[in-house]
Amino acid sequence: MTKTQPTTTLVAETRRHQRAKIVIIGGGSPYCAGLMRAIVHHADELKGCHVTLMDINKEGLELIYTIGSKLIKYAGADLTLERTTSQEDAIDGADFVITTFRSGGMSARRLDEKIPLRHELIGQETVGPGGFFYALRSIPVVAGIAKEMEKRAPQAFLLNYTNPSNIVTEAVAHYSGIRIIGMCDGPVNEIKEFAQMAGIEAAAGKRLRHRTVGVNHGNWTTAVWRDGIDILPQIVQWCKEHVDSQPTMTQQNYVHEMLIQLTAEYEAIPSHYLHYYYFPERVLQFLQEKPTSRAEDIMADIPAILAHYHDEAQKEVPHLTKMRGGDGGFGDFALDILRSILNDSGEEWVLNVPNHGSIDFLANDRVVELPCYVDARGATPLTQGDGGITLERRGLITLLAEYEAATARAALWGSRRDAIKALASNPLVMSYSKAEAVYDDLASAHAQYIPERLLK
Ligand code: G6P
Ligand code: MN
Repeated sequence: MTKTQPTTTLVAETRRHQRAKIVIIGGGSPYCAGLMRAIVHHADELKGCHVTLMDINKEGLELIYTIGSKLIKYAGADLTLERTTSQEDAIDGADFVITTFRSGGMSARRLDEKIPLRHELIGQETVGPGGFFYALRSIPVVAGIAKEMEKRAPQAFLLNYTNPSNIVTEAVAHYSGIRIIGMCDGPVNEIKEFAQMAGIEAAAGKRLRHRTVGVNHGNWTTAVWRDGIDILPQIVQWCKEHVDSQPTMTQQNYVHEMLIQLTAEYEAIPSHYLHYYYFPERVLQFLQEKPTSRAEDIMADIPAILAHYHDEAQKEVPHLTKMRGGDGGFGDFALDILRSILNDSGEEWVLNVPNHGSIDFLANDRVVELPCYVDARGATPLTQGDGGITLERRGLITLLAEYEAATARAALWGSRRDAIKALASNPLVMSYSKAEAVYDDLASAHAQYIPERLLK
Protein backbone atom coordinates (compact mmCIF):
# COMPACT_ATOMS: atom_id res chain seq x y z
CA MET A 1 0.00 0.00 0.00
CA THR A 2 1.32 3.40 -0.85
CA LYS A 3 0.61 6.52 1.08
CA THR A 4 -1.33 8.12 -1.74
CA GLN A 5 -3.90 5.37 -2.01
CA PRO A 6 -6.51 6.68 0.44
CA THR A 7 -6.58 10.06 -1.31
CA THR A 8 -7.00 8.43 -4.72
CA THR A 9 -9.86 6.32 -3.41
CA LEU A 10 -11.52 9.37 -1.94
CA VAL A 11 -11.34 11.22 -5.27
CA ALA A 12 -12.76 8.19 -7.10
CA GLU A 13 -15.60 7.96 -4.56
CA THR A 14 -16.44 11.62 -4.96
CA ARG A 15 -16.45 11.32 -8.75
CA ARG A 16 -18.69 8.28 -8.65
CA HIS A 17 -21.34 10.07 -6.64
CA GLN A 18 -21.00 13.21 -8.64
CA ARG A 19 -23.00 12.74 -11.80
CA ALA A 20 -21.61 15.72 -13.67
CA LYS A 21 -19.65 18.83 -12.83
CA ILE A 22 -21.31 21.96 -14.16
CA VAL A 23 -19.23 25.11 -14.12
CA ILE A 24 -20.61 28.62 -14.53
CA ILE A 25 -17.97 31.16 -15.50
CA GLY A 26 -19.38 34.56 -14.63
CA GLY A 27 -21.27 32.93 -11.76
CA GLY A 28 -21.35 36.16 -9.74
CA SER A 29 -23.23 38.22 -12.32
CA PRO A 30 -26.74 39.48 -11.53
CA TYR A 31 -28.00 37.30 -14.40
CA CYS A 32 -26.96 34.19 -12.46
CA ALA A 33 -29.77 34.51 -9.95
CA GLY A 34 -31.97 33.38 -12.87
CA LEU A 35 -29.60 30.52 -13.56
CA MET A 36 -29.76 29.43 -9.91
CA ARG A 37 -33.52 29.42 -10.07
CA ALA A 38 -33.43 27.42 -13.31
CA ILE A 39 -31.05 24.89 -11.74
CA VAL A 40 -33.53 24.34 -8.94
CA HIS A 41 -36.40 24.07 -11.48
CA HIS A 42 -34.46 21.32 -13.22
CA ALA A 43 -33.22 19.69 -10.01
CA ASP A 44 -34.73 16.28 -10.78
CA GLU A 45 -33.01 16.09 -14.12
CA LEU A 46 -29.73 17.29 -12.63
CA LYS A 47 -29.85 14.93 -9.66
CA GLY A 48 -26.41 14.28 -8.19
CA CYS A 49 -24.70 17.07 -10.13
CA HIS A 50 -22.08 19.36 -8.73
CA VAL A 51 -22.34 23.04 -9.67
CA THR A 52 -19.33 25.35 -9.41
CA LEU A 53 -19.75 29.10 -9.66
CA MET A 54 -16.65 30.98 -10.78
CA ASP A 55 -16.19 34.73 -10.89
CA ILE A 56 -13.46 37.26 -10.22
CA ASN A 57 -16.03 39.51 -8.57
CA LYS A 58 -15.97 38.09 -5.02
CA GLU A 59 -18.90 40.07 -3.71
CA GLY A 60 -21.21 39.10 -6.57
CA LEU A 61 -20.03 35.50 -6.30
CA GLU A 62 -20.81 35.32 -2.59
CA LEU A 63 -24.24 36.82 -3.17
CA ILE A 64 -25.26 34.39 -5.92
CA TYR A 65 -23.73 31.50 -3.98
CA THR A 66 -25.75 32.36 -0.88
CA ILE A 67 -29.00 32.68 -2.82
CA GLY A 68 -28.28 29.48 -4.79
CA SER A 69 -27.37 27.42 -1.70
CA LYS A 70 -30.52 28.47 0.10
CA LEU A 71 -32.75 27.74 -2.90
CA ILE A 72 -31.18 24.29 -3.28
CA LYS A 73 -31.56 23.55 0.42
CA TYR A 74 -35.18 24.68 0.50
CA ALA A 75 -36.02 22.56 -2.55
CA GLY A 76 -34.31 19.57 -0.93
CA ALA A 77 -32.46 19.13 -4.23
CA ASP A 78 -29.72 16.54 -4.59
CA LEU A 79 -27.21 19.08 -5.87
CA THR A 80 -24.01 20.49 -4.47
CA LEU A 81 -22.93 24.06 -5.00
CA GLU A 82 -19.51 25.59 -4.54
CA ARG A 83 -17.80 28.79 -5.58
CA THR A 84 -14.29 29.78 -6.52
CA THR A 85 -12.37 32.70 -7.96
CA SER A 86 -9.94 30.32 -9.66
CA GLN A 87 -10.78 29.56 -13.27
CA GLU A 88 -8.35 26.61 -13.31
CA ASP A 89 -9.92 24.97 -10.25
CA ALA A 90 -13.40 25.55 -11.61
CA ILE A 91 -12.66 24.00 -15.01
CA ASP A 92 -10.72 21.02 -13.64
CA GLY A 93 -12.72 17.86 -14.34
CA ALA A 94 -15.76 19.74 -15.63
CA ASP A 95 -18.39 18.09 -17.82
CA PHE A 96 -20.12 21.35 -18.78
CA VAL A 97 -18.74 24.87 -18.76
CA ILE A 98 -21.30 27.66 -19.19
CA THR A 99 -19.78 31.04 -20.03
CA THR A 100 -21.91 34.02 -19.14
CA PHE A 101 -19.86 37.07 -18.38
CA ARG A 102 -19.49 40.53 -19.82
CA SER A 103 -15.92 41.47 -20.55
CA GLY A 104 -15.49 45.11 -19.54
CA GLY A 105 -18.85 45.14 -17.75
CA MET A 106 -21.70 47.57 -18.35
CA SER A 107 -19.40 50.56 -18.60
CA ALA A 108 -17.73 49.05 -21.69
CA ARG A 109 -21.18 48.31 -23.15
CA ARG A 110 -22.11 51.94 -22.59
CA LEU A 111 -19.15 53.02 -24.74
CA ASP A 112 -20.09 50.48 -27.44
CA GLU A 113 -23.51 52.10 -27.56
CA LYS A 114 -22.45 55.74 -27.42
CA ILE A 115 -19.22 56.11 -29.41
CA PRO A 116 -20.56 54.89 -32.80
CA LEU A 117 -23.33 57.51 -32.63
CA ARG A 118 -20.67 60.23 -32.97
CA HIS A 119 -19.77 58.66 -36.31
CA GLU A 120 -23.38 58.53 -37.50
CA LEU A 121 -23.35 54.77 -36.91
CA ILE A 122 -25.75 52.67 -34.84
CA GLY A 123 -24.43 52.00 -31.33
CA GLN A 124 -25.60 48.66 -29.98
CA GLU A 125 -24.46 45.83 -27.72
CA THR A 126 -24.14 43.00 -30.28
CA VAL A 127 -24.52 44.58 -33.73
CA GLY A 128 -22.48 47.13 -35.68
CA PRO A 129 -19.23 48.59 -34.30
CA GLY A 130 -20.40 48.11 -30.68
CA GLY A 131 -20.95 44.39 -31.17
CA PHE A 132 -17.65 44.23 -33.01
CA PHE A 133 -15.75 45.58 -29.99
CA TYR A 134 -17.72 43.38 -27.64
CA ALA A 135 -16.43 40.48 -29.76
CA LEU A 136 -12.84 41.76 -29.56
CA ARG A 137 -13.12 41.87 -25.75
CA SER A 138 -14.93 38.56 -25.29
CA ILE A 139 -13.08 36.29 -27.72
CA PRO A 140 -9.63 36.25 -26.04
CA VAL A 141 -11.26 35.39 -22.72
CA VAL A 142 -13.47 32.58 -24.06
CA ALA A 143 -10.55 31.26 -26.16
CA GLY A 144 -8.50 31.18 -22.92
CA ILE A 145 -11.24 29.16 -21.24
CA ALA A 146 -11.28 26.72 -24.18
CA LYS A 147 -7.50 26.36 -23.89
CA GLU A 148 -7.81 25.63 -20.18
CA MET A 149 -10.53 23.08 -20.95
CA GLU A 150 -8.21 21.32 -23.42
CA LYS A 151 -5.89 20.72 -20.48
CA ARG A 152 -8.32 20.10 -17.62
CA ALA A 153 -11.63 19.02 -19.12
CA PRO A 154 -11.09 18.00 -22.76
CA GLN A 155 -14.36 16.04 -23.00
CA ALA A 156 -16.51 18.81 -21.59
CA PHE A 157 -19.05 20.86 -23.51
CA LEU A 158 -18.57 24.61 -23.62
CA LEU A 159 -22.05 26.14 -23.59
CA ASN A 160 -21.39 29.71 -24.57
CA TYR A 161 -23.74 32.51 -23.57
CA THR A 162 -21.10 35.22 -23.79
CA ASN A 163 -22.11 37.72 -26.43
CA PRO A 164 -21.89 38.32 -29.29
CA SER A 165 -22.66 34.61 -29.06
CA ASN A 166 -22.28 33.86 -32.74
CA ILE A 167 -18.90 35.56 -33.22
CA VAL A 168 -17.51 34.12 -29.99
CA THR A 169 -18.69 30.62 -30.95
CA GLU A 170 -17.34 31.11 -34.48
CA ALA A 171 -13.93 32.07 -33.06
CA VAL A 172 -13.66 29.24 -30.55
CA ALA A 173 -14.92 26.63 -33.04
CA HIS A 174 -11.96 27.55 -35.27
CA TYR A 175 -9.45 27.93 -32.47
CA SER A 176 -9.98 24.88 -30.31
CA GLY A 177 -11.08 21.28 -30.52
CA ILE A 178 -13.36 21.74 -27.53
CA ARG A 179 -17.02 21.03 -28.27
CA ILE A 180 -18.66 24.44 -28.17
CA ILE A 181 -22.36 25.24 -28.57
CA GLY A 182 -23.48 28.87 -28.87
CA MET A 183 -26.67 29.73 -27.00
CA CYS A 184 -29.21 32.53 -27.26
CA ASP A 185 -32.63 32.48 -25.67
CA GLY A 186 -33.85 35.19 -28.07
CA PRO A 187 -35.61 32.98 -30.66
CA VAL A 188 -37.60 30.98 -28.07
CA ASN A 189 -38.83 34.16 -26.38
CA GLU A 190 -39.46 36.06 -29.59
CA ILE A 191 -41.54 33.25 -31.13
CA LYS A 192 -43.54 32.87 -27.93
CA GLU A 193 -44.30 36.61 -27.94
CA PHE A 194 -45.34 36.66 -31.59
CA ALA A 195 -47.61 33.65 -31.09
CA GLN A 196 -49.16 35.26 -28.01
CA MET A 197 -49.80 38.46 -29.95
CA ALA A 198 -51.74 36.37 -32.45
CA GLY A 199 -53.61 34.75 -29.57
CA ILE A 200 -51.82 31.39 -29.71
CA GLU A 201 -50.27 29.53 -26.78
CA ALA A 202 -48.36 26.25 -26.86
CA ALA A 203 -50.41 23.16 -26.01
CA ALA A 204 -50.40 22.38 -22.27
CA GLY A 205 -47.06 20.98 -21.15
CA LYS A 206 -45.54 21.46 -24.59
CA ARG A 207 -43.57 24.13 -26.34
CA LEU A 208 -43.80 25.65 -29.81
CA ARG A 209 -41.24 24.26 -32.23
CA HIS A 210 -39.80 26.63 -34.77
CA ARG A 211 -37.60 26.66 -37.83
CA THR A 212 -35.23 29.54 -37.15
CA VAL A 213 -32.43 29.81 -39.66
CA GLY A 214 -29.47 32.13 -40.24
CA VAL A 215 -26.91 33.43 -37.79
CA ASN A 216 -27.44 34.45 -34.18
CA HIS A 217 -29.22 37.81 -34.00
CA GLY A 218 -29.51 37.62 -37.81
CA ASN A 219 -32.11 34.98 -38.60
CA TRP A 220 -35.67 34.41 -39.78
CA THR A 221 -38.24 32.00 -38.42
CA THR A 222 -39.98 30.40 -41.36
CA ALA A 223 -42.23 27.91 -39.57
CA VAL A 224 -43.75 27.63 -36.08
CA TRP A 225 -45.34 24.33 -35.17
CA ARG A 226 -48.00 23.85 -32.52
CA ASP A 227 -48.77 20.18 -32.12
CA GLY A 228 -47.41 19.52 -35.61
CA ILE A 229 -49.39 22.28 -37.34
CA ASP A 230 -47.59 25.28 -38.77
CA ILE A 231 -49.16 28.36 -37.19
CA LEU A 232 -46.86 30.88 -38.90
CA PRO A 233 -49.61 31.83 -41.42
CA GLN A 234 -51.84 32.89 -38.50
CA ILE A 235 -49.05 34.99 -37.00
CA VAL A 236 -48.36 36.61 -40.38
CA GLN A 237 -52.06 37.31 -40.86
CA TRP A 238 -52.24 38.99 -37.46
CA CYS A 239 -49.25 41.16 -38.38
CA LYS A 240 -50.80 42.12 -41.72
CA GLU A 241 -53.89 43.28 -39.88
CA HIS A 242 -51.93 45.23 -37.28
CA VAL A 243 -49.15 46.74 -39.34
CA ASP A 244 -48.92 50.45 -38.78
CA SER A 245 -48.10 52.23 -41.99
CA GLN A 246 -46.70 55.22 -40.12
CA PRO A 247 -44.80 53.95 -37.10
CA THR A 248 -44.51 56.41 -34.26
CA MET A 249 -40.83 56.33 -33.60
CA THR A 250 -40.90 58.26 -30.36
CA GLN A 251 -42.76 55.44 -28.65
CA GLN A 252 -40.88 52.77 -26.78
CA ASN A 253 -42.61 50.09 -28.81
CA TYR A 254 -41.35 51.43 -32.11
CA VAL A 255 -39.12 48.35 -32.50
CA HIS A 256 -42.18 46.23 -32.21
CA GLU A 257 -43.81 48.13 -35.05
CA MET A 258 -40.83 47.56 -37.31
CA LEU A 259 -40.81 43.83 -36.53
CA ILE A 260 -44.52 43.54 -37.24
CA GLN A 261 -44.01 45.33 -40.53
CA LEU A 262 -41.18 42.98 -41.52
CA THR A 263 -43.25 39.93 -40.58
CA ALA A 264 -46.16 41.18 -42.67
CA GLU A 265 -43.93 41.95 -45.68
CA TYR A 266 -41.69 38.88 -45.68
CA GLU A 267 -44.23 36.43 -44.26
CA ALA A 268 -41.69 35.17 -41.74
CA ILE A 269 -40.63 36.33 -38.26
CA PRO A 270 -37.39 38.30 -38.18
CA SER A 271 -34.88 38.12 -35.36
CA HIS A 272 -35.43 41.13 -33.11
CA TYR A 273 -32.03 42.40 -34.27
CA LEU A 274 -32.96 42.55 -37.97
CA HIS A 275 -34.68 45.89 -37.49
CA TYR A 276 -31.23 47.48 -37.19
CA TYR A 277 -30.43 46.40 -40.77
CA TYR A 278 -33.81 46.98 -42.38
CA PHE A 279 -34.53 50.40 -40.80
CA PRO A 280 -31.07 51.85 -40.07
CA GLU A 281 -31.98 55.53 -40.54
CA ARG A 282 -34.95 55.31 -38.24
CA VAL A 283 -32.96 53.49 -35.56
CA LEU A 284 -29.99 55.85 -35.79
CA GLN A 285 -32.23 58.88 -35.34
CA PHE A 286 -34.02 57.24 -32.42
CA LEU A 287 -30.75 56.37 -30.67
CA GLN A 288 -29.29 59.82 -31.25
CA GLU A 289 -32.36 61.49 -29.81
CA LYS A 290 -32.70 59.14 -26.83
CA PRO A 291 -31.02 60.81 -23.83
CA THR A 292 -29.71 57.58 -22.31
CA SER A 293 -28.28 54.41 -23.79
CA ARG A 294 -29.59 50.93 -22.94
CA ALA A 295 -26.53 50.27 -20.73
CA GLU A 296 -27.25 53.48 -18.81
CA ASP A 297 -30.86 52.42 -18.33
CA ILE A 298 -29.73 49.03 -17.03
CA MET A 299 -27.06 50.56 -14.78
CA ALA A 300 -29.78 52.72 -13.26
CA ASP A 301 -31.85 49.60 -12.48
CA ILE A 302 -29.09 47.38 -11.13
CA PRO A 303 -28.72 48.89 -7.64
CA ALA A 304 -32.37 48.10 -6.85
CA ILE A 305 -31.99 44.56 -8.21
CA LEU A 306 -28.84 43.99 -6.15
CA ALA A 307 -30.47 45.45 -3.04
CA HIS A 308 -33.35 43.01 -3.54
CA TYR A 309 -30.88 40.11 -3.94
CA HIS A 310 -29.07 41.19 -0.74
CA ASP A 311 -32.33 41.37 1.21
CA GLU A 312 -33.47 37.98 -0.03
CA ALA A 313 -30.04 36.41 0.57
CA GLN A 314 -30.49 37.12 4.29
CA LYS A 315 -33.77 35.21 4.48
CA GLU A 316 -33.97 31.50 5.08
CA VAL A 317 -35.79 31.09 1.78
CA PRO A 318 -34.95 33.77 -0.80
CA HIS A 319 -37.90 34.81 -2.92
CA LEU A 320 -36.75 36.71 -6.00
CA THR A 321 -39.43 38.94 -7.44
CA LYS A 322 -37.19 40.99 -9.71
CA MET A 323 -34.18 39.70 -11.56
CA ARG A 324 -31.77 40.88 -14.19
CA GLY A 325 -32.79 39.20 -17.45
CA GLY A 326 -36.50 39.17 -16.65
CA ASP A 327 -38.31 36.11 -15.40
CA GLY A 328 -35.42 33.73 -15.75
CA GLY A 329 -36.05 32.49 -19.32
CA PHE A 330 -32.33 32.96 -19.88
CA GLY A 331 -31.47 30.42 -17.19
CA ASP A 332 -34.13 27.93 -18.21
CA PHE A 333 -32.91 27.90 -21.79
CA ALA A 334 -29.31 27.08 -20.75
CA LEU A 335 -30.53 24.34 -18.43
CA ASP A 336 -32.82 22.88 -21.11
CA ILE A 337 -29.81 22.45 -23.39
CA LEU A 338 -27.61 21.09 -20.62
CA ARG A 339 -30.12 18.52 -19.39
CA SER A 340 -30.88 17.40 -22.98
CA ILE A 341 -27.20 16.50 -23.35
CA LEU A 342 -26.79 15.10 -19.85
CA ASN A 343 -29.90 12.91 -20.08
CA ASP A 344 -29.40 12.04 -23.76
CA SER A 345 -32.98 13.11 -24.33
CA GLY A 346 -32.85 13.83 -28.07
CA GLU A 347 -34.73 17.13 -28.22
CA GLU A 348 -34.82 19.79 -30.89
CA TRP A 349 -33.47 23.23 -29.98
CA VAL A 350 -32.30 26.24 -31.99
CA LEU A 351 -28.57 26.61 -31.34
CA ASN A 352 -25.33 27.87 -32.86
CA VAL A 353 -22.95 25.29 -34.31
CA PRO A 354 -20.72 24.90 -37.41
CA ASN A 355 -22.87 24.71 -40.53
CA HIS A 356 -21.35 21.65 -42.25
CA GLY A 357 -23.70 22.03 -45.20
CA SER A 358 -26.90 22.31 -43.18
CA ILE A 359 -27.87 25.72 -44.62
CA ASP A 360 -27.10 25.62 -48.32
CA PHE A 361 -26.41 29.31 -48.92
CA LEU A 362 -23.86 29.70 -46.09
CA ALA A 363 -20.27 28.44 -46.06
CA ASN A 364 -19.65 25.03 -44.50
CA ASP A 365 -17.41 26.16 -41.68
CA ARG A 366 -19.41 29.18 -40.52
CA VAL A 367 -21.14 28.93 -37.17
CA VAL A 368 -24.85 29.28 -37.91
CA GLU A 369 -28.08 29.31 -35.93
CA LEU A 370 -30.57 26.58 -36.73
CA PRO A 371 -32.61 23.73 -35.26
CA CYS A 372 -30.35 21.05 -33.81
CA TYR A 373 -30.90 17.59 -32.43
CA VAL A 374 -29.58 17.63 -28.87
CA ASP A 375 -28.50 14.44 -27.13
CA ALA A 376 -25.42 13.03 -25.39
CA ARG A 377 -23.35 13.73 -28.52
CA GLY A 378 -24.12 17.43 -28.26
CA ALA A 379 -25.97 19.56 -30.83
CA THR A 380 -26.19 18.04 -34.31
CA PRO A 381 -27.48 20.51 -36.92
CA LEU A 382 -30.57 19.45 -38.82
CA THR A 383 -30.38 19.85 -42.61
CA GLN A 384 -32.32 22.94 -43.70
CA GLY A 385 -31.58 23.54 -47.39
CA ASP A 386 -32.43 27.24 -47.76
CA GLY A 387 -34.52 27.01 -44.58
CA GLY A 388 -37.41 28.74 -46.32
CA ILE A 389 -35.36 31.93 -46.60
CA THR A 390 -36.13 33.47 -49.97
CA LEU A 391 -33.42 34.85 -52.22
CA GLU A 392 -33.78 38.52 -51.30
CA ARG A 393 -33.07 37.78 -47.64
CA ARG A 394 -30.01 35.59 -48.12
CA GLY A 395 -27.56 38.35 -49.03
CA LEU A 396 -27.75 40.08 -45.65
CA ILE A 397 -27.35 36.83 -43.72
CA THR A 398 -24.41 35.81 -45.88
CA LEU A 399 -22.78 39.20 -45.32
CA LEU A 400 -23.29 38.85 -41.57
CA ALA A 401 -21.84 35.33 -41.51
CA GLU A 402 -18.75 36.36 -43.49
CA TYR A 403 -18.29 39.54 -41.43
CA GLU A 404 -18.49 37.45 -38.25
CA ALA A 405 -15.84 35.02 -39.52
CA ALA A 406 -13.51 37.92 -40.45
CA THR A 407 -14.10 39.46 -37.01
CA ALA A 408 -13.43 36.17 -35.23
CA ARG A 409 -10.17 35.79 -37.13
CA ALA A 410 -9.04 39.35 -36.39
CA ALA A 411 -9.92 38.94 -32.71
CA LEU A 412 -7.85 35.77 -32.44
CA TRP A 413 -4.82 36.58 -34.56
CA GLY A 414 -5.18 39.92 -36.36
CA SER A 415 -3.66 43.39 -36.32
CA ARG A 416 -5.39 46.78 -36.21
CA ARG A 417 -5.53 46.80 -40.03
CA ASP A 418 -7.12 43.32 -40.16
CA ALA A 419 -9.69 44.43 -37.62
CA ILE A 420 -10.57 47.60 -39.55
CA LYS A 421 -11.05 45.56 -42.73
CA ALA A 422 -13.34 43.16 -40.88
CA LEU A 423 -15.36 46.06 -39.46
CA ALA A 424 -15.64 47.67 -42.92
CA SER A 425 -17.47 44.51 -44.05
CA ASN A 426 -20.20 44.93 -41.43
CA PRO A 427 -23.49 45.75 -43.18
CA LEU A 428 -24.10 48.69 -40.84
CA VAL A 429 -20.68 50.21 -41.63
CA MET A 430 -19.85 49.44 -45.29
CA SER A 431 -17.28 52.21 -45.47
CA TYR A 432 -13.55 51.87 -45.04
CA SER A 433 -13.09 55.45 -43.84
CA LYS A 434 -15.93 55.22 -41.32
CA ALA A 435 -14.64 51.84 -40.14
CA GLU A 436 -11.18 53.29 -39.54
CA ALA A 437 -12.43 56.35 -37.66
CA VAL A 438 -14.87 54.51 -35.40
CA TYR A 439 -12.36 51.72 -34.85
CA ASP A 440 -9.69 54.05 -33.53
CA ASP A 441 -12.16 55.87 -31.33
CA LEU A 442 -13.49 52.64 -29.78
CA ALA A 443 -10.07 50.96 -29.60
CA SER A 444 -8.63 53.77 -27.52
CA ALA A 445 -11.65 53.66 -25.21
CA HIS A 446 -11.29 49.88 -24.77
CA ALA A 447 -7.47 49.65 -24.88
CA GLN A 448 -7.32 47.85 -21.52
CA TYR A 449 -9.51 44.98 -22.73
CA ILE A 450 -8.05 44.20 -26.14
CA PRO A 451 -4.68 42.74 -27.14
CA GLU A 452 -1.82 45.10 -28.01
CA ARG A 453 -1.63 43.80 -31.61
CA LEU A 454 -5.09 45.25 -32.26
CA LEU A 455 -3.95 48.72 -31.26
CA LYS A 456 -1.15 49.21 -33.76
C1 G6P B 1 -31.68 39.34 -25.75
C2 G6P B 1 -30.55 38.77 -26.52
C3 G6P B 1 -29.31 38.72 -25.68
C4 G6P B 1 -28.99 40.10 -25.18
C5 G6P B 1 -30.16 40.67 -24.43
C6 G6P B 1 -29.94 42.12 -24.10
O1 G6P B 1 -32.05 38.46 -24.73
O2 G6P B 1 -30.83 37.51 -27.03
O3 G6P B 1 -28.25 38.20 -26.44
O4 G6P B 1 -27.86 40.08 -24.35
O5 G6P B 1 -31.33 40.60 -25.20
O6 G6P B 1 -30.82 42.48 -23.10
P1 G6P B 1 -30.49 43.71 -22.16
O7 G6P B 1 -31.53 43.68 -21.12
O8 G6P B 1 -29.10 43.47 -21.59
O9 G6P B 1 -30.53 44.92 -23.05
MN1 MN C 1 -28.91 36.63 -27.77
